[in-house]
Amino acid sequence: MSNPNAAQAPVTVIGLGLMGQALAAAFLGNGHPTTVWNRSAHKADELVGKGAVLAPSVKDAIEASPLVVICVSDYDSVHELLDPVEGSLAGRTLVNMTSASSSQARGMAKWAEGKVGAYIDSAIMAIPPGIATDEAIMLYCGPKSAFDQHAETLKVLAPAGTTYLGEDHGLASLHDVSLLTMMWGVENSFLHGVALLGTAGVKATEYLPLAKALAVMTLGFIEAYAEQIDSGDWPAEDSTIDTHVDAMDHLLDESRELGVNTEWPALITALGKRAIAEGHGPASYAAMVEVFRKPSA
Ligand SMILES: NC(=O)c1ccc[n+]([C@@H]2O[C@H](COP(=O)([O-])OP(=O)(O)OC[C@H]3O[C@@H](n4cnc5c(N)ncnc54)[C@H](OP(=O)(O)O)[C@@H]3O)[C@@H](O)[C@H]2O)c1
Repeated sequence: MSNPNAAQAPVTVIGLGLMGQALAAAFLGNGHPTTVWNRSAHKADELVGKGAVLAPSVKDAIEASPLVVICVSDYDSVHELLDPVEGSLAGRTLVNMTSASSSQARGMAKWAEGKVGAYIDSAIMAIPPGIATDEAIMLYCGPKSAFDQHAETLKVLAPAGTTYLGEDHGLASLHDVSLLTMMWGVENSFLHGVALLGTAGVKATEYLPLAKALAVMTLGFIEAYAEQIDSGDWPAEDSTIDTHVDAMDHLLDESRELGVNTEWPALITALGKRAIAEGHGPASYAAMVEVFRKPSA
């Protein structure tokens, strides 16, 4: 059921760090009566100046709205704040935007059972200035009916990127780290490339257009790999892992000879060689997933 009066739906935001302030400002800017609370009350000053209500206690903050968002440093802080006032959460929807692991998120959902009207776990794939822009991605999981009820309100945080993942409360956190591993992989590769090219006086900005083109090309590769992985069959239609590992050896040798850091290429090469040792040399690069699926040796 969607909320017909979403624009007027009251929201509470607990936690006004860098992210919480951006979340509250987005709700406020979209016409939602917004109640806020923060351990250090002065962080509410700017929001109060724009019309937010600063609640005198966590309990008052919760009781001000049917939708309560919490975004603090970690889950210990979430418990510290909510455990003493859990009775106030009955009948309300709690959306926890604090980062955690999937097992912590599932644990929080267990804690919420019988106390909270509905518990939704969320992960924020944005930086504070990105909130309420089309770049923001907000991930949600938990009871679908509760998400649907508040979807219009939550959409102000990520107008183009509001994504419901399913009922399993671990899904948002799990997607969070799965996307971050990709982000750091791309960033580390770019920075290693910058270090290599820097030895020849090539500037990062000169490398950038080619790096971007390669990143786009790689997106095409992973589309094909996703199909292969889900079908459980990875014929080498473009290039084998054996061929990739030969190129990885060049990368490692070049890094060593040029005196730049070798840890990143050494890691990539070691993973490639393990895939070969497990018999995946003639397969498509998608078969590397078998190495990642197992715990480290
Ligand atoms: N910033 C980002 O780019 C970003 C992106 C994605 C996800 N996130 C996630 O968003 C959450 C908040 O991040 P942030 O950037 O807003 O961090 P932050 O600026 O450091 O703010 C931390 C917030 O947690 C509160 N807090 C910490 N310990 C507390 C305690 N024991 N009791 C009560 N309140 C406590 C702080 O209150 P005080 O003000 O009183 O210290 C503050 O409101 C984190 O889980 C983070 O991983 C952040």
